[in-house]
Amino acid sequence: MQVIKTIDKLRPIVKAWKKEGLRVGLVPTMGYLHEGHKSLIVRAVSENDKVVVSDFVNPTQFGAGEDLASYPRDIDRDAAICEQAGADLIFHPEPEEMYFTDNCTFVDMDGLTKGLCGKTRPTHFRGVCTVVSKLFHIVAPDRAYFGQKDAQQLAVIRRMARDLNFDIEIVGCPIVREADGLAMSSRNTYLNDAERKAALILHKSLMLGKEMIEQGEHDASQIKKAIISNIESEPLAKVDYVEIVNPDTMENIDTVEDLALIATAVYIGKTRLIDNVM
Ligand code: PAF
Repeated sequence: MQVIKTIDKLRPIVKAWKKEGLRVGLVPTMGYLHEGHKSLIVRAVSENDKVVVSDFVNPTQFGAGEDLASYPRDIDRDAAICEQAGADLIFHPEPEEMYFTDNCTFVDMDGLTKGLCGKTRPTHFRGVCTVVSKLFHIVAPDRAYFGQKDAQQLAVIRRMARDLNFDIEIVGCPIVREADGLAMSSRNTYLNDAERKAALILHKSLMLGKEMIEQGEHDASQIKKAIISNIESEPLAKVDYVEIVNPDTMENIDTVEDLALIATAVYIGKTRLIDNVM
């Protein structure tokens, strides 16, 4: 498995695969891979002839004061995981390879990006849409794989692919959890022991909401109230948002009648974690 750092080296490799009629899968990541990423790679390997994993901490999706500098990075560890999962190539560019110093073109979106994570991270999805469309142009995959943990990101990318006519199948993959329920995330590495225990409140509270719905509660405001009060019972947790939304449009739902996404972002100490349940 090769680690390729430049667009000029990557393009002819993918073009040669395409010439042979091979199907190419792309797994975009910011590296520091965990079992969640591995499940995306394994799925991509099972559905395509060749798989590219991009490993790039994308500066444009971090806001001022966020964790761009401290975001964990370890390309050797990532390469070992990719190799084990059966990937063919890692695309690992430097920021200067992806963005010209005078870059002034971005991909932005209205609507879906304004609520949930977009409220506290107003430029985040512009950065995500920009880098993902660049990766789509550079790799030109047949399919691209994204985790359901970032449910808003998945909905945004599906919409972007539709609106901008990318001929790429967007594949959403289930959340992978630790044995105790914590959703896998590269940011879990920021948590100390006490915070790691406290972080379980996200999944527990989402399950409480799901149970309420299963037991017949349809009023979204009652469900949100119960989830928020459960999260707030954990002293190390501070709610950023709890929302119940349509999973395709990210619009708020008042009465839960059909498929609904309960999504939350919670600060555990200084670390902001997200999780959701359908
Ligand atoms: O989900 C991520 O890791 C990132 O947002 C993505 C899709 C790789 C874009 O940088």
